[in-house]
Amino acid sequence: ASDMNQFKNILVTGGAGFIGSHVIRRLLKEHADMHVVNLDLLTYAGNLENLRDIESNERYAFVKGDIGDAALIAQLFVQHDFDAVVHLAAESHVDRSIENPMAFLETNIIGTATLLHAAKNAWLGDGKDASNRCFYHVSTDEVYGSLGAEGLFSETTSYDPRSPYSSSKASSDHLVRAWHHTYGLPIVISNCSNNYGAHQFPEKLIPLMIRNIRDQRPLPVYGEGLNIRDWLWVEDHASAIDTILHNGASGRTYNIGGLNEWRNIDLVHALIREVDAAMGRPEGTSLELITYVTDRAGHDMRYAIDASRIESELGWKPSIQFEDGLKETVRWYLDNAEWMDSVTSGNYQQYYETMYGNR
Ligand code: NAD
Ligand code: TYD
Repeated sequence: ASDMNQFKNILVTGGAGFIGSHVIRRLLKEHADMHVVNLDLLTYAGNLENLRDIESNERYAFVKGDIGDAALIAQLFVQHDFDAVVHLAAESHVDRSIENPMAFLETNIIGTATLLHAAKNAWLGDGKDASNRCFYHVSTDEVYGSLGAEGLFSETTSYDPRSPYSSSKASSDHLVRAWHHTYGLPIVISNCSNNYGAHQFPEKLIPLMIRNIRDQRPLPVYGEGLNIRDWLWVEDHASAIDTILHNGASGRTYNIGGLNEWRNIDLVHALIREVDAAMGRPEGTSLELITYVTDRAGHDMRYAIDASRIESELGWKPSIQFEDGLKETVRWYLDNAEWMDSVTSGNYQQYYETMYGNR
């Protein structure tokens, strides 16, 4: 009730992915009169299984489609008169961006520009008032580049992206700001650190390690395992997005972080402890699975966030302790073995294609 802005019809892109599914669940729960349209292409990373508990909610609708499909997007804007867009759809995995950068440029850059163009056409011109609308771009701290042992990324840190993934996200951030400055499109951007929690595709470090420890397979640690990431509970990211959407200042950027830095090798040790304990194995059983492998090309050394702006201006901070979040996350993946195994086998992909292909 104390929100600065109220939104009724929201387009969420990438809602079948990891973070997007948590965002949709949160928005529907917190805002009783909000309607959400989820536009998602259902790539390998998107699974409607992530939203099964809300798929029959009458304030929720799923549309299968590409954010780069200008005609489809224009039609959705006419049909639903969106007052906000929460844009999460992206190719999101750094290693894949090294193998196949063009898909990242296509979706993250051209796709974002296509959405911006549609929002501009729908919301601006002909004396229209766009002051109660918002185009929210969900971005990453990786746009700021790589830190040494000291320092934090703040909202004024210069962009210095180094991977195809991060440079495509940096490009999209620049486009969003350009549409704001040039056309007056109301926008907000947030740049967040590494997320963890339920429903993350098991190519990312934490679910991949949980799965391999469970199955007693090698644990590939890149380089010497000394790279540092700041880890944030995905539901805390969703609550930050909800807060910024409703109370952020137009044109403003907010950094979101967990104040929770871990060296990869220490995190792998923590996961080994948790998974071995949960599976009733003697402590240290899986340590021998650690396998140092060739480092990722251009591997960023350290990410860390100064999240003082969002705390001081919007009153947001992380809600849960990492130890608790990690325990709960391990529990979730072990309890949902079927999810983990089928998203990686491609079965769900085919299943949902048949179920929802024509919606
Ligand atoms: P994800 O890979 O789990 O999900 C991406 C979703 O986008 C999938 O459902 C996929 O089907 C969909 N998608 C991909 N291309 C599409 C297209 N062309 N049209 C429509 N839908 C498409 O990603 P995630 O980890 O949930 O990340 C979501 C967003 O948050 C991304 O923009 C990412 O850059 C950003 N982000 C992620 C993290 C993180 O730690 N995962 C941290 C900060 C920011
Ligand atoms: P990742 O989850 O891919 O996120 P990002 O690269 O976007 O930060 O990787 C997190 C860290 O873990 C990163 O430093 C790379 C490292 N890593 C490994 O050491 N082994 C792995 O198998 C993976 C996937 C990542």
